[in-house]
Amino acid sequence: MTARPITATAETIAKAGELLRDGKLVAFPTETVYGLGADATSDTAVASIFAAKNRPTFNPLIVHVADMEAARALVVFDSLAEQLAAAFWPGPLSLVLPRRPDCPVSLLASAGLDTIAVRMPAHGTARAILAAASVPIAAPSANASGAISPTRADHVADSLGNNVDLILDDGPCQVGIESTVVACLDGTATLLRPGGLAIEDIEAVTGPVQMASGDPDQPASPGMLASHYAPDAALRLNATSLAGDEGLLAFGSAAPAGDGPRRNLSPTGDLREAAANLFAMLRELDGISSAIAVVPIPQTGLGRAINDRLVRAAAPRDA
Ligand code: TXA
Ligand code: MG
Repeated sequence: MTARPITATAETIAKAGELLRDGKLVAFPTETVYGLGADATSDTAVASIFAAKNRPTFNPLIVHVADMEAARALVVFDSLAEQLAAAFWPGPLSLVLPRRPDCPVSLLASAGLDTIAVRMPAHGTARAILAAASVPIAAPSANASGAISPTRADHVADSLGNNVDLILDDGPCQVGIESTVVACLDGTATLLRPGGLAIEDIEAVTGPVQMASGDPDQPASPGMLASHYAPDAALRLNATSLAGDEGLLAFGSAAPAGDGPRRNLSPTGDLREAAANLFAMLRELDGISSAIAVVPIPQTGLGRAINDRLVRAAAPRDA
């Protein structure tokens, strides 16, 4: 698949909605930068985003919604979040909020976290695509990993043209830098990423906003900003045999024998399928095992991102 930009019209927007509902990747303009969109409720569609960007890590993605009703179906708004949404949505602000228990968003989209970054874009074409898709859309910036964010459709084609099903062109982005990301958790607003909405504008509504510390060992608010999913169970990587009733996270057809619960990321050894299953299966095992052994995962393609997350999840952490 090699996509060249196609002008956004009623017909091509309807087509984009169809493709998105069908699990395909669509690059589209927002007021900040072009996004690489996929159905946020589909693990495999979200895995395709990471594969297309060739990202070496699974960063949590921003989930785009058409309106407040769609946002409320995903996350819980506290009064700070309500104020910020009322003041700045639609617009270049993403809010990191607690995931609802019945939230349909893929755990891969939020990299296994209990929070989700949600944004209601202001761009008319983005809003029309969200309406046409009628599912929440996970969309990072539509560039290959390590490249700068695209503000024109031809930037997307240059960076990702071979890896996207449709690129909708609606001219250059007005804001040109990504959305400002603010977490509203535990009654505190914290700036996680400066962006297209000035912090002064936010503080005019909320009062002083905390700044996230750049030092992962010194989070501005302990526990709140952890940006990596960490299971309660101890994780043992590159396991080739099983001890006692350890849970097993397998990959491919060969798996060590054992009596504990087991899940297989991909019996056929497909790394994209494995990525799609990673966080959901880790959570399942975490719920039933106190120790989880993970077989070796190949360090190629999406395997690099899978191993990155597994290494972080296995790292010793404070009680
Ligand atoms: O302007 C934008 O925000 C663009 C357009 C396409 O909407 N999207 C974008 O997405 O920049 P992305 O995936 O490139 O950036 C997502 C940012 C990252 O800094 C990520 O760490 C943060 O949002 N983020 C997402 N979910 C999070 C969460 N649950 N907790 C903390 N940070 C989160
Ligand atoms: Mg980006």
